[in-house]
Amino acid sequence: MVILEAKNVAKSYGGLKVLTDVNFEVNKGEIVGIIGPNGAGKTTFMNLISRLTSITGGIITYKGEIINDKKPHEIARMGIARTFQVVKPFGGLTVLENVMVGAFYGKNNAKSKKEAISIAEEALQIVGLIDVRDKDPRVLPLAKRKKLEVARALAMGPELLLLDEVMAGLSVKELDEMMTEIIKLKQKGITIIAIEHVMKAIMGISDRIVVLHLGKKIAEGKPEEIVKNQDVIEAYLGSKYAKKE
Ligand SMILES: Nc1ncnc2c1ncn2[C@@H]1O[C@H](COP(=O)(O)OP(=O)(O)O)[C@@H](O)[C@H]1O
Ligand SMILES: [Mg+2]
Repeated sequence: MVILEAKNVAKSYGGLKVLTDVNFEVNKGEIVGIIGPNGAGKTTFMNLISRLTSITGGIITYKGEIINDKKPHEIARMGIARTFQVVKPFGGLTVLENVMVGAFYGKNNAKSKKEAISIAEEALQIVGLIDVRDKDPRVLPLAKRKKLEVARALAMGPELLLLDEVMAGLSVKELDEMMTEIIKLKQKGITIIAIEHVMKAIMGISDRIVVLHLGKKIAEGKPEEIVKNQDVIEAYLGSKYAKKE
């Protein structure tokens, strides 16, 4: 069953075409990875789904309903939650309180402080941050702040979770932990779209990969097909792999 569909989606900022004719589908329960060079339009695409920026052309449908004109808070209530590429904890709130914000504003829509605490504690358990619940998030290392982003999104009770580079900057061990967590979320029935540059991670967790380049979808397929795709190697993987060698 298709949970999210983008048809001929376009986004321009003034004369700058950031996305052109993007067609994209996610089935319920899938993990779809989005890869592509910096500036390809990946985050913008996520901003269109979460309705943080206006859609210039095309249609986005979520669970059969056109969401082009929805507001971000309506999108959250419908069951779409996201993380941000640049982690943004609310200063002055503890880790637990940061996650409680998600519990109040998402599909979970907590009706009391007690309910929000219980939802937030569960989300912190899932990502392994329960032991730092009373800390100021600004003192946490990057890996934990990334997990906090995931926990806040989870506390919203999403059916569709959008992850924007949650694995960037993590150590090998932290990466393995994050991958295991994301797979666990899929097993709970959450559908996931993940933007990622860490190839080992995104190829390891995704059922399907979509490649964006200069605002266009240039390839789509199973991870093992994408790594062999000549257009993808030329536009993205080649230069990156070459740099590593
Ligand atoms: N608010 C904005 N105003 C103008 N240009 C923007 C804005 N947001 C993104 N862009 C441009 O859109 C392009 C795609 O950006 P982005 O979606 O962040 O790429 P990615 O996440 O793939 O690295 C870039 O050229 C960026 O400069
Ligand atoms: Mg980005």
